[in-house]
Amino acid sequence: MAKSRPRKRHAAAIGAAALLVAVLGVAAVRAAAGPTEAGGVPLRDLAAEQGVRIGAAVNPYLLEDAPDYRALVAEQYGSVTAQNVMKWNTLQPERGEYDFSTADTLTAFADEHDQAMRGHTLLWHQQNPEWLAEGDFGPEELRSIMRDHIDTVVGEHFAGRVYAWDVINEPFRDSGGELRPNLWLDTLGADYIAEALHTAHEADPDARLYINEFNVEGRNPKSDALYELAASLLEQGAPLHGIGLQSHFHAGTVPEDMVANMRRFTDLGLEVTVTELDISVEVPADEEELRVQARDYRTVVENCLRVSGCTGITVWGIGDADSWIPSWFPGRGAALPFDEDYAPKPAYGSLQEALGG
Ligand code: G3I
Repeated sequence: MAKSRPRKRHAAAIGAAALLVAVLGVAAVRAAAGPTEAGGVPLRDLAAEQGVRIGAAVNPYLLEDAPDYRALVAEQYGSVTAQNVMKWNTLQPERGEYDFSTADTLTAFADEHDQAMRGHTLLWHQQNPEWLAEGDFGPEELRSIMRDHIDTVVGEHFAGRVYAWDVINEPFRDSGGELRPNLWLDTLGADYIAEALHTAHEADPDARLYINEFNVEGRNPKSDALYELAASLLEQGAPLHGIGLQSHFHAGTVPEDMVANMRRFTDLGLEVTVTELDISVEVPADEEELRVQARDYRTVVENCLRVSGCTGITVWGIGDADSWIPSWFPGRGAALPFDEDYAPKPAYGSLQEALGG
């Protein structure tokens, strides 16, 4: 079943009675997984009252192996993004051979716990299978491979179960305003972006289609270029619905102009979503760093709530032990709202408060 989009705060507040019914409706399933030690009203319920979703990037193997992890996902988050298992190397490891088994574990969990699913991701320069990355295909063949993947994944398999797709992930270079050379750009030219959006829209006309990027949370040359790209896609009639601001921050670096930056995208008629939030500190973390981190988590949520087209926030993982940060940035870590034992950190309290708890 398609999950309905969260109601906009300016459209209507969710009635207390309706919320109570919804909360009671899933309480039994969630209680079976918990309750956890997080305490207070779960983030997902607070977010629903604000008309936004709070979600998490989830690893289905940990859902199976780590009971505390599973319980927190069920209890705290109203939206689930596949941290890895909807990427191309998992879904189509060999040409024409699709494997939806682990992704389906995740969608089944999400259905059981009344969670919406974000799809991540269709076209990216990483986590592609060797046959695709090394295939040296010409434009015609690559275009047909791209269409087959999107039709099969977005249309045949997940239509109606995934409410939003990161169709294009990280199309720009790490910094600056140039498109990133990758398999798609190099072979199909810049039109690969519009073409992928059109194909995804035909495959599932109800899905919200996103470009997802990092280092674009404040105004800078990269977000300026993303803005120009989004405006020109809309002008050409491409079905682009939203911009994902990944939001991988170092503590103390949330841009002051994040709200203004989000608003220029919503002024184009797009929605924005914070899609991969984590806020890393130097490890081992001291109290002061965790305080700054907590303040930053609060700021990001408040920023989203100040922008009427911001649909919500997804954090990139559950507990500090599952985060991608330490292996990519040695010396940094402790980036998530729960610690290595899944106990709540000050950041968790900040999220609750920012969401009105
Ligand atoms: O699956 C293999 C496993 O078989 C092998 O034994 C193991 C040994 O290292 O590696 C496993 O693959 C790892 C994979 O995650 C699944 O756990 C890769 O090495 C590892 O590089 C990969 O990292 C992921 C990364 O994307 C890849 O670029 C992270 O978990 C994932 O959190 C991260 O997510 C990205 C978003 O998709 C896009 N935005 C940035 C974000 C952070 O990098």
